[in-house]
Formats: sequence, C-alpha cells, structure tokens
Amino acid sequence: MTDERAGEERPDSDRGRSFETREVHASARTDQYGALATPIYANSTYEYDTMDGPRGDHRYSRISGPTRGELEAAFADLEGADHAAAFASGMAAIDAVCSLLTGGDHVVVGESVYAETHELLTRVYARYGIETTVVDSTDPAAIADAMREETAMVFAETPTNPTLRVVDLEATAAVVDDHPGDPLLVVDNTFASPYLQRPLEYGADLVVESLTKYVGGHSDLVAGAVATRDPALAEAIGYYQYLRGGTPGPFACFLALRGIKTLSARMERHCRNATAVAALCDGHDAVERVYYPGLESHPNHAVAREQMADFGGMVSVDLAGGREAAAAFAADLDVFVLAESLGGVESLAEHPATMTHQDFSREELERAGIPPGLVRLSVGTEARDDLLRDVEASLNGLTA
Ligand SMILES: Cc1ncc(COP(=O)(O)O)c(C=O)c1O
Repeated sequence: MTDERAGEERPDSDRGRSFETREVHASARTDQYGALATPIYANSTYEYDTMDGPRGDHRYSRISGPTRGELEAAFADLEGADHAAAFASGMAAIDAVCSLLTGGDHVVVGESVYAETHELLTRVYARYGIETTVVDSTDPAAIADAMREETAMVFAETPTNPTLRVVDLEATAAVVDDHPGDPLLVVDNTFASPYLQRPLEYGADLVVESLTKYVGGHSDLVAGAVATRDPALAEAIGYYQYLRGGTPGPFACFLALRGIKTLSARMERHCRNATAVAALCDGHDAVERVYYPGLESHPNHAVAREQMADFGGMVSVDLAGGREAAAAFAADLDVFVLAESLGGVESLAEHPATMTHQDFSREELERAGIPPGLVRLSVGTEARDDLLRDVEASLNGLTA
C-alpha cells in the first residue's frame, strides 16, 4: 500500500485470517512428507486398487490433480470464492465463462476489455449466434441501456486495459440484478489481482483472471482461473474444464502457487512505484495525459479509492508527439523492457496500438480510447529511483 493509504482499513473476505497470512499458507501441506511447497505431481494417471475407484482423490490429470487442486483452492480463497477452476491461460478461463452462453444470447461488454476478449466475443462467439454490445462499462446507466431481454451476461474488466478506467462494481451489480433475465456479471480482475480488489464481494457472479500477470508475478508462466460462490456455476465451469481440457500442467500450477505467496508484498511495491511514476509523468511537457486511477484528476478516482485497496501497478501515458514520440520514448527506456504482458517484477513498456491491440481497426482503437501516442507501463518492483530516472530521462529526450 502506498504511504498515503497505509493504515486504512481494507475490505477483506470473512475468512478468519487476513489475506497476507492466507496467501503465504496457500499450500495445504497435505502430502505424506508435509512438504511446505506443494509438490509438482507430473503424472497423467492414478492407480486404482480395484475397478471401483482410484486409491486417492484423482484418477486422470485432465480431470483433476493435486498440484492444480491446491492452486484452485488457494485462488478461490483469495478471491473470497468457494470454488475455482484453473485453465491453461487467462483466455482459456475467459472462454470457459463464455461457454455458459447459448445461441440467441446477448452479451454487454466494456469497450476497453482485453483485445482478445473483445475478439473472442465479436468474432468467434458471434458465429454461434451470440450478439455483443460494446459499452462504456464505467457508466452503469450505459450498461442498463444496452441490456435486452435476451442479455445473458455483462462482462467487465477493471481497471481496464490500457486506459485504466475503473468500473463501479457495486453499481454495476445492482443494474445487472435489476434485470429480469437474471444475467451473469463477470469481472476480469487481472489488472487488480485479488489483493487489491475482490469483485465477488461486490456482487459479481464470476471472476476471471489471467494468472500469467500479477498472481504468477515473475513473467514465467501462462495460466488462468475462474472463481465463483455459486455451486451451479462452478459445476458448469468444471464440466467445461473436464470436456474441453484446456487445463494447466502441474509446473504452471506450482509456479502460480509460488507467486501467490508473495502477491501482497509485490503488489504493495508495484503500487508505490506506479504512484511515483504517474506523479512524475503528470505535468511533464512531453505528456498529453496520464491514466492512473490514483491521480485525483482520474475520472474514476473516487470509485477506485472506494473499491480497491490501492491503485495498481499499471500506468498509461499519452505522449504529446503521438506515435513517433511513443517509439522514441520506448526506445530510450533502459530499465523498462519493451514487451507485451504485465504484472511481473520487471518493469515493461508497450505500445497498445501496434502491440497488444494490433488486431483492432482504427475505429475500434478510437472507441477504446487508445490514441497513437499511448504507451502502457507495467511498473515493476525495481528501486523506485531507478524507475523514475529511467522514465524522466526518456521523457526529457522528447522535449530536448
Ligand atoms: C485483462 C486481461 N485479461 C485476460 C488476459 C489473457 O490472459 P492470458 O494471456 O493468460 O491468456 C490478459 C492478457 O494480457 C489481460 O491483460
């Protein structure tokens, strides 16, 4: 937590121990040796003593396994859920959620959700007769207006990628609850992580997350997860996981579990560093606009303050010189690495219009509010002064 927010009471799920204790003890130490770290059970199948059933809890690793089981239990606990299912990637987790839809259903989705989420809905699920309406998901009234009789799902991501707008989850859940068709509210919590925000506590039905990012935290794995409090939804997602088989291997689960143990410690440093980087960029002559929910000038600052424990590790800057300035800025950075993805300990910079959002048409970029000069920074856990020197030198290079 940044100095400013230290000592403030943070919402936490009613789980006895605090988040920071539960994450450290995420592995249940249930193996025969009492191993502190969950072992990697790298096998595909399990022995049956008789034909009536396997000896232990597992029979085949696509269906379940001990390492994945520990990860699912830990993720559910941190999200304040009762059930979780792990997948081979964040996109596989999002696809699992979309598999709850049937032909004729309608989905309302935020305009700046992750580019592939948008593409999955509008280019793949559209082929199965599922229609999507894109709205400003930070405006609950716009969501209400977009909903129809056949709306089966509202999919929001918060903070959004890459413009870091914050969805008011409580107000959105109220709008969704009021709708007679009983649609599902799904929230992609990747940018916040369960340490900063737990959407189920605000009324979401399902939370999805790319564990590749903050939960893993070291840029060394690809995985995803879905969590819920609803047993029927958990069963439906579990059935899909079993049939389609997009599950993570035990090594990815092991790495995700290891990441979970330090999530809060890393997030606190990410937030502190990002706050400083945003403050530096704000007001610099080379910068047209800074997008960071922690800035008082941010349009959703009040919601972020209410809903999140801190403001996150992502900062986007729109450079006054447009695309050329973005290229020069990125090339000049030294500590920040030019790469896609986010949430690892290493600071990364990327240019959404040519990198993560390269499949967006010009209209889609405009609708998502992504100008040509926008650079997204995933602020890592390095020393704050090194990061500030790096960003300042690159920005100064643009105005020299
Ligand atoms: C917000 C968000 N959701 C989902 C995903 C997809 O995750 P993965 O790459 O693990 O499939 C990403 C990836 O960047 C993301 O940023």
